[in-house]
Amino acid sequence: MIPSQRALFDLPREVAYLNAAYMGPMPRHAAAAGAQSYADKQQPWTVNAQEAFADAPERYRALGARLFGATADDIAIVPAASYGLALAARNLEPDAGSEILVLDGQFPSNVYVWQALAERTGAKIRTVSRSDNESWTDALLAAISLKTAIVACPHVHWSDGGRVDLPRVSEAARRQGAALVLDLTQSLGALPFDLEAIQPDFAVAAGYKWLLGPYSLGLCYIAPHHQESAEPLEENWINRQGSEDFARLVDYQSAYQPGARRFDMGERSAFQLVPAGIACLEQILDWGVDAISATLGVRTQEIIEAVAPLGLVPATPDRAPHYLGLTLPPDTPGDLVKRLAAEQVYVSQRGDRLRITPYLYNDETDITRLAEILKVIL
Ligand SMILES: Cc1ncc(COP(=O)(O)O)c(C=O)c1O
Repeated sequence: MIPSQRALFDLPREVAYLNAAYMGPMPRHAAAAGAQSYADKQQPWTVNAQEAFADAPERYRALGARLFGATADDIAIVPAASYGLALAARNLEPDAGSEILVLDGQFPSNVYVWQALAERTGAKIRTVSRSDNESWTDALLAAISLKTAIVACPHVHWSDGGRVDLPRVSEAARRQGAALVLDLTQSLGALPFDLEAIQPDFAVAAGYKWLLGPYSLGLCYIAPHHQESAEPLEENWINRQGSEDFARLVDYQSAYQPGARRFDMGERSAFQLVPAGIACLEQILDWGVDAISATLGVRTQEIIEAVAPLGLVPATPDRAPHYLGLTLPPDTPGDLVKRLAAEQVYVSQRGDRLRITPYLYNDETDITRLAEILKVIL
């Protein structure tokens, strides 16, 4: 159990921020690194080009790789989950009539891209629903068939907190020759990821939630067997071999930088984002994802016990330890989240679920306040 890390964050005592799935607060020291990068931008001649263009993004990539259990060569730097998913869609070619599986109510960045691919190829979207007591894993396993070309799913459903048993889904998908594309935005850094057991084709995570980082900086794993053949979305100069030598950039190169670097977003060195992103990833790795997950598992259990007398129960039989989607009673006031925010208790509502996502800064005081205020409102 990791003790409260509240002192590392800029969280006033009276604020109960239980909304990491919406946006992870950046630790103070990471924000200081970000502020320094803005100060540097005021004096470009003081910036060390080797560090800013090459070394810092490489450190970000290597730290991110550790969260996936991958090597730096397998990671592309991306601005958004939608970018990594677009990379996957560009490089997968489902047959006409084959199926692309998505979960019911899945986050739109992981749906629209498949609708567009289906339109282009004649494949069909199959939306997998689950019944109340069914897990997403069982629902997905029942849907995977010879027709499945792509399984595009998260590790954790963003509204109900349901976990997908990815090793089992991956095995079933591979048995049918289907590709596995993952959106890890609501799990990477907070839930261990077993790359060897899961073997995704593509797996992306936006960096501003459980990775605590700046907006518009994320990570995408690309399986080695796609790295040589797949096409990037952009043809940025820095992704080509020899781009370190600024004097020779117009000796145009057909070869790319090694591994997944060819898929990096344009301007991936992102000087005003990467230093803060590095500080966040270092912090997460220092705590350790196993310990983060175990600690948040205890916190969410405490929340379940505190709100159970109000009739709020987890919406899924197999939830991720860090994540709560609680089914709200039918007579819940429409402005519940607003009223909680007025008391400085921050959560989200997604559909008829109250989403409560604590992090290492939350403690008993936050949980007691949440339960007390919910009791008054409900
Ligand atoms: C599951 C999931 N994926 C992705 C995102 C963000 O997507 P993008 O980075 O494409 O804006 C969110 C944001 O809430 C999310 O919950």
